Amino acid sequence: MKLLVVGSGGREHALAWKLAQAPRVQLVYVAPGNGGTAQDERLANVDITDIGELADFAEREQVAFTVVGPEAPLAAGIVNLFRSRGLKVFGPTKEAAQLESSKDFAKAFMKRHGIPTAAYETFSDAAAAHAYIDAQGAPIVIKADGLAAGKGVVVATTLEEAHAAVDMMLADNKLGDAGARVVIEEFLAGEEASFIVMVDGKHVLALASSQDHKRLLDGDRGPNTGGMGAYSPAPIVTPQLHARVMREIILPTVSGMEKEGIRYTGFLYAGLMIDAQGNPKTLEFNCRMGDPETQPIMARLKGDFSKVFEHAIAGTLNTVELEWDRRTALGVVLAAHNYPDAPRKGDRISEIPAETADAVTFHAGTTLVDGKLTTSGGRVLCVVGLADSVRSAQSIAYETVNQISFDGMQYRHDIGYRAVSRKQPN
Ligand code: AMP
Ligand code: GLY
Repeated sequence: MKLLVVGSGGREHALAWKLAQAPRVQLVYVAPGNGGTAQDERLANVDITDIGELADFAEREQVAFTVVGPEAPLAAGIVNLFRSRGLKVFGPTKEAAQLESSKDFAKAFMKRHGIPTAAYETFSDAAAAHAYIDAQGAPIVIKADGLAAGKGVVVATTLEEAHAAVDMMLADNKLGDAGARVVIEEFLAGEEASFIVMVDGKHVLALASSQDHKRLLDGDRGPNTGGMGAYSPAPIVTPQLHARVMREIILPTVSGMEKEGIRYTGFLYAGLMIDAQGNPKTLEFNCRMGDPETQPIMARLKGDFSKVFEHAIAGTLNTVELEWDRRTALGVVLAAHNYPDAPRKGDRISEIPAETADAVTFHAGTTLVDGKLTTSGGRVLCVVGLADSVRSAQSIAYETVNQISFDGMQYRHDIGYRAVSRKQPN
């Protein structure tokens, strides 16, 4: 069978890489893909991003099903369109994707259904927002309502920063329509984890837990990014916490959407904040897999992933059991010069070490220029190491990182540090 993965990041490379491992999968198209998916002979890049043209392509090539990676085509209605044309696709409809595409929708939904999250108010009037900030005090969190490619959240530690964020979004319109409304919410302290599940409209299948590292610099300093590294499993997600998150957050979300007449299908990602007492709250929902979380998660997944998608599309996820490599997978993102502000493109990348049983490199912002691998985006590569302990997985990942270079390459040296300090040294 032939499959189609929509997107061009490390998440899509990892999904396509995993799907292509199944013997019955002949070819995985990736649209538009990147330099890494171009080089893998089991994958083929397709230079299409328009959702109508993607549907034409899937029909013409008799693609068995399509998996959508990023939020933008989901929010644009790619799943609605594919379904209306009788094409099999895994992802949420445009309506369901509002859980990610509108923070106000997500917060109001959580409030209606008693799903734990930070207290909040929504504003479109700058003066009212400023007054609310003065009444609440700092720290406080300002979020653009719409999709802002990772730039829409300001965790303000001072009142000045909070007021400036409101001015940036509401007065100066720096984020356009996405920032025309803002959610202002209570600051939550604790440790974050990514909780990602597959949903078929009714049944939920949890993937392995993971933890991202959003800040650019070691020790969680510097600006927020799309994610500088991730590992799976995340030891903070104990079996007890897992059960609680399913019961208090994931299942009420899926059933709440159904009650409101919006069947949720697709990946559902709850970004969690877990406080010192171990209580989880929902920071955000994403209607897709995480990037870079997908890279270590896919590195650990065993078996034929294409069959899991078939069940997800048929509504029989309740019959599926996933099997995971018991090792920890840890991925380090190699970012371009000046990421995340204005990443430089066009830097030549050195030879990438070949995949081994315990190390694999997924591409994101890479492209082939005259057959040579070149940077083409902010997050360039994600190097994943697998080993029995977090510390060893770290060593393997960084050994591979040390074999790769490009001008301006920047990365964090401490991916997995929370898990290392949590676990007894072994
Ligand atoms: P989001 O895009 O909503 O995930 O927010 C980006 C990042 O901002 C999160 O990963 C957290 O690190 C931080 N953040 C978001 N909301 C809050 C909150 N209410 N309290 C503390 N940190 C937050
Ligand atoms: N790694 C965070 C995200 O995908 O939103």
